[in-house]
Amino acid sequence: MTDLFSKFDALIQQREDLLATGVTDPFSLVMEKVLSPTVAICNGRETILLGTYNYMGMTFDADVIAAGEEALKTFGSGTTGSRVLNGTYQGHKECEEALKDFYAMDHAMVFSTGYQANLGIISTIAGKGDYVILDIDSHASIYDGCKMGDAEIVAFRHNDIEALEKRLKRLPPEAGKLVVLEGVYSMLGDVAPLKEMVRVAKENGAMVLVDEAHSMGFIGEHGRGVAEAQGVIDDVDFIIGTFSKSVGTVGGFCVSNHPKFEILRLVCRPYVFTASLPPSVVATAATSIRKLMHGSNKRAHLWENSKKLHGGLRKLGFQLGTEEPQSAIIAVIMPDLERGAMMWEALLEEGLYVNLARPPATPAGMTLLRCSLCAEHSSEQVDEILARFERAGTRTGIIG
Ligand SMILES: Cc1ncc(COP(=O)(O)O)c(C=O)c1O
Repeated sequence: MTDLFSKFDALIQQREDLLATGVTDPFSLVMEKVLSPTVAICNGRETILLGTYNYMGMTFDADVIAAGEEALKTFGSGTTGSRVLNGTYQGHKECEEALKDFYAMDHAMVFSTGYQANLGIISTIAGKGDYVILDIDSHASIYDGCKMGDAEIVAFRHNDIEALEKRLKRLPPEAGKLVVLEGVYSMLGDVAPLKEMVRVAKENGAMVLVDEAHSMGFIGEHGRGVAEAQGVIDDVDFIIGTFSKSVGTVGGFCVSNHPKFEILRLVCRPYVFTASLPPSVVATAATSIRKLMHGSNKRAHLWENSKKLHGGLRKLGFQLGTEEPQSAIIAVIMPDLERGAMMWEALLEEGLYVNLARPPATPAGMTLLRCSLCAEHSSEQVDEILARFERAGTRTGIIG
């Protein structure tokens, strides 16, 4: 018998080698208590959270919590059914209305996660004989959506406009084409040149889908994302997003102005063949989305935090993923996985949580300490974060 687990041997060895150095396992941390969007208790210690996707700090918003509690009491703990059978409650429709208002678009479809939104939309609209042209650094859910739909995958170099154009020009003019882009790429926190890429896609007869998971709520005048900030939102055919980041709960969605969009509710398997979100979740999401429409002060404060942290880390001598702050994600590049894990642990001992990211999730085999800021981080917390980075970086020899 072939042990089907033998394919994981290299990964098991890598993990064992890392733990043999005596470092805490960076992938099994427990949040023992969460005190606010920016502070939790980890290993019994009060810890500043700099590795959540809670960009707009909505998880403890009083209105959001009240809406969730009310829906839990009124509609129960779960729907126990698919959106197309017994699983569409008033709350799901209200959530879709909130999304339509937020994006000023005609259609919105709520999924149980953002992962399923990509899986569902991409696999349903791009099938056999069609082409999906995507950035090589695309999220796993985008790749998985392509595989499930059986379209030809054509990858191009990260954020390279010319490479996208070259690939498009080589494809049969009559074939169905979907260009898939992200607003913010979550590993390095860099922004896509959507203005040019959307133009190139349209000139070559392709439809465009933009995943704004890491930009919704924060980037753009109304928080609609990078497509809004770069003035091309009206040319984008589908926007994918998630409730697990700025919205502060769980769930995913697609918004669109396509006149035939609603048919997707009947043919999109990751929408049809799974239970819908619990009533409390859609109530918190709808309340949060409506509040994000009026979040311009929070957006401005988050930009201040991002600039301050980026400038401060660079001054301390850390190597960063982007020259300038482009989003709420600031990636600190580590020399290798071992030293990255050491630095991650040293920061945790200082009372600071960041995300350790390693290949294959990262581009170019990099090990990263990914810092994601929250609009609820105070300016004093950012000062404290920088002081902790300085102490941990000196102690581990990463700087100085
Ligand atoms: C770009 C991107 N798209 C989609 C998702 C999936 O979101 P969800 O957590 O709602 O499944 C993520 C999550 O990390 C993401 O980074």
